[in-house]
Amino acid sequence: MITLSVIKADTGGFVGHSAVHPNMMAEARREIDRATASGLLIDGQVASCGDDISLIMTHTYGADAGLIHSFAWDTFQATTHIAKGLGLYGAGQDLLSDAFSGNLRGMGPGYAELEFEERPSEPVLCFLADKTEPGAWNLPLYKMFADPFNTAGLVIDGKMHAGFGFEVYDLYEEKRIVFDCPADLYDMLMYIGAPARYVIHGVRSKTLGETAATTSTQRLSLIAGKYVGKDDPVMIVRCQSGLPAVGEALEPFAFPYTVAGCMRGSHHAPFLPVPVRQAHPSRFDGPPRVVALGFQIHDGKLIGPRDMFDDPAFDGARAQASEIMDYLRRHGPFEPHRLPLSELEYTTMPALAQRLANRWTPMTTEIATPVG
Ligand code: 13P
Ligand code: 13P
Ligand code: MG
Ligand code: MG
Ligand code: MG
Ligand code: MG
Repeated sequence: MITLSVIKADTGGFVGHSAVHPNMMAEARREIDRATASGLLIDGQVASCGDDISLIMTHTYGADAGLIHSFAWDTFQATTHIAKGLGLYGAGQDLLSDAFSGNLRGMGPGYAELEFEERPSEPVLCFLADKTEPGAWNLPLYKMFADPFNTAGLVIDGKMHAGFGFEVYDLYEEKRIVFDCPADLYDMLMYIGAPARYVIHGVRSKTLGETAATTSTQRLSLIAGKYVGKDDPVMIVRCQSGLPAVGEALEPFAFPYTVAGCMRGSHHAPFLPVPVRQAHPSRFDGPPRVVALGFQIHDGKLIGPRDMFDDPAFDGARAQASEIMDYLRRHGPFEPHRLPLSELEYTTMPALAQRLANRWTPMTTEIATPVG
């Protein structure tokens, strides 16, 4: 068995929240190389989307392993040190605790981890996003694993036809449920259509008994009890041979659906699939970005990445996203561009409510004279 771990954190932005500084990337690479040389990792790579660094690692310690999580924590401390030295924005932003204790749960960094028996050919996609939340993966996971208009294999591949089990988290109540699809499709959609609260954590093949996909589901805003940025999620999807083909796993992103995030984590905006070189959200700190890194995993080694959205076939989605961005931006501070009050990550509302408390009076039929 090998484990693929993608562990990510924002440890400082260059410039603002738009990218990771090259010196931070180089430092993370040095750490990964050291950990590979020492035998902790079988293999490892460093990637980024926007201002978030992802450590993509293979090893034999399983998910939630203290050794792997503490290595990631130390690496993020090191990149934070560099960010501080350069005065980068929000240095150490996602490191919410002063000391590491056991694993990264509740500490700020996000992670998706998958333990599996490597198949003779093991194509895997690592999706990295910036300026959005983990529920952003609900729609594409539904399409990949439950929508025959997206995934032909659900109809014509005997190993997919029985369907998939979806594990869904309720992030508010900290509970989980498994939906058996296609039987439970309509029940599941009632929940996952509300992605701020209900998040698909994993998908399993009923026929193969294998986990096919997993997402990072940490919710920073709740962990920190105050705004510390959206969670900027990652996702791992294994492909082919009874799982969605690579092209079926990429296909949902040809539709630039709307996600929550963007400026101050408080706006709806289209989700833009981009090649790595364009994964730097600047317009209105958006639109939110997604990159897809393709790997063939062989003897635990990461053969790749291929930059999967570096394909003109996604130009149409990018053009449409630009149009949607223009349209939504013109709403300024109005919903549905701005998130509803309950979902705002930045808010002046409690202070306003207090200051204006005694200017609110019962509604009457006469027109009141404004008080200045
Ligand atoms: P496989 O069974 O080889 O995964 O076939 C699916 C495919 O590659 C079609 O795109
Ligand atoms: P990040 O979570 O990517 O740091 O974004 C925070 C933000 O407020 C962007 O406007
Ligand atoms: Mg940031
Ligand atoms: Mg970010
Ligand atoms: Mg963030
Ligand atoms: Mg084939």
